[in-house]
Amino acid sequence: MSQVLTHDLVIFGAGLAGLRAAIEASRQTQGKLNIAVVTKNQMMRAHSVAAEGGTAAVMRTEDGDSLELHAWDTVKGSDFLADQDVVDLFVNSMPTEILQLDHWGIPWTRREDGRIAQRPFGGHTYPRAVLAADKTGFFEMQTLYDTLVKYNNTTHYNEYFVTSILVSDNQFRGLAAINMTTGEFTLIRGKAMIICTGGGGTLYGFTTYSQTVTGDGMALAYRAGLPLEDMEFLQFHPTGLVPSGILITEACRGEGGYLINAKGDRFMDKYAPQKMELAPRDLISRSEMTEIEEGRGYKGPGGLDYIHLDLRHLGADRINEALPLIREVCMEFNDLDPINEPIPCRPVAHYSMGGVETDITGATRIKGIWAAGEAACVSLHGANRLGSNSTGECLVYGKITGTEAAKYCQGLSAPPALAKELFEEEEKRIFGTMLAMNGSENLYDLRKELRATMDQYVGVYRTGEELGKALDIIKSLKKRFAHITIQDKSRAYNTNLVHALELQNLIDLAEVTVTGALTRTESRGGHARRDYPVRDDEKWLKHTMAFHTPQGPKLDYKPVVINKWKPVERKY
Ligand code: FUM
Repeated sequence: MSQVLTHDLVIFGAGLAGLRAAIEASRQTQGKLNIAVVTKNQMMRAHSVAAEGGTAAVMRTEDGDSLELHAWDTVKGSDFLADQDVVDLFVNSMPTEILQLDHWGIPWTRREDGRIAQRPFGGHTYPRAVLAADKTGFFEMQTLYDTLVKYNNTTHYNEYFVTSILVSDNQFRGLAAINMTTGEFTLIRGKAMIICTGGGGTLYGFTTYSQTVTGDGMALAYRAGLPLEDMEFLQFHPTGLVPSGILITEACRGEGGYLINAKGDRFMDKYAPQKMELAPRDLISRSEMTEIEEGRGYKGPGGLDYIHLDLRHLGADRINEALPLIREVCMEFNDLDPINEPIPCRPVAHYSMGGVETDITGATRIKGIWAAGEAACVSLHGANRLGSNSTGECLVYGKITGTEAAKYCQGLSAPPALAKELFEEEEKRIFGTMLAMNGSENLYDLRKELRATMDQYVGVYRTGEELGKALDIIKSLKKRFAHITIQDKSRAYNTNLVHALELQNLIDLAEVTVTGALTRTESRGGHARRDYPVRDDEKWLKHTMAFHTPQGPKLDYKPVVINKWKPVERKY
């Protein structure tokens, strides 16, 4: 019951990075490359559509902005863990990407003079977030998709769940996937592959991510032998809607919104007197938690205590024009109109700074595999990403990896041979061993426990003791996973089986995240240790690399590329 598909380039994931890579690979080869775009969802259901506030780029310099300043803001925001050569390449590439999308038809919001509008975002010195109201990701995805379908050399595989990346002799051979609609086990052969599967934020219960984002590409790459880099750096966005966790865009503060505690104070004046609500996310999330922990928050349901985001002073016209999605979300989910009432918010799991280790071109250590977007760690964001730099990364690195992988494919006459046993073994694992699982553990209980553990012990602030507890629980979940039941024994549309595979991926990522966090005895960016509250450049100015072993992750380190700015104290 298996199917074999053969392509030149396989793109694993269909969000912003994946679509941008597919377009570029097609363009570079004048539509000659045979490309597969593989997603477990439907096209246009990638989580990238949920990106809201904007995409950062230096579009004009007459008011004092510059590429150098964008780079500096990014490096400082990263708490000096970003690789500075990557930052330089990124900021230099961004303006062209914005204009490219403009030429492909995106409805960027415009200023009155007709030029592309930009709004302020946290940690940026100048307003440089280019926007399409507060639905930027949706319009970017729509534009890329419309552009991609003009090429007839790409095949879209919707609802294919990839179970394994097949590698031998350190070379990519193909993907093993379940065709969810039919239940057929499928080998997708290719000369090269780009991992564009996004982050791993559903490790947490309180998260902005859609439930489909389960870090599959990262976990499969890790098991295929690639190191995951800097996974302990997880971003908490300061304004997750309570209690759902839905993203309330930073653009609310970019437009002038205030953060207010239960005493009625704009508390950011204590923590970041210059930047106030437009300080970087790590700093604001810590400030909010301090306010809440010291009793100046509001009591929320299920322990989700919160502060207020107040937009009322912006007025109905501005809210309707600049933040229509936010108003709709508040009304639909909280029965609250932000024109008249403040929004209950708290820090929420939002973004993985870490991911599959790549070099500056997005290439991994395995021949024929690249990674781009949130799934990758090209080291652009270091320990803390600036808001509006991630959609940009997807565009820039989609383009770069699409170009590189296409070049590589053109140099090979056919996909490298695959030992049949590799694929057969994987089919046996999925439809023999896993589908037959009949133990006493309920996988949905395990998933709930995993998320509760991450919410409780691996949050904005961490301690060695809490991280140790989290690691013990994760290790026991890993053992208990061997005793789950798959109740649905059918092949077609077996979401029960898919949820088990996703959980296995999440457990591996949790183990890597917590192992890295426990070992890193300092505070830097999104990793704030109460027991080691200070950044320690002497010991920890380095990237964490986690390698898979049967016993758990094995850590190694590599230096940060510092070619311009030496680390200094971060003040806002
Ligand atoms: O707040 C936001 O709109 C999120 C943007 C981002 O994560 O870059």
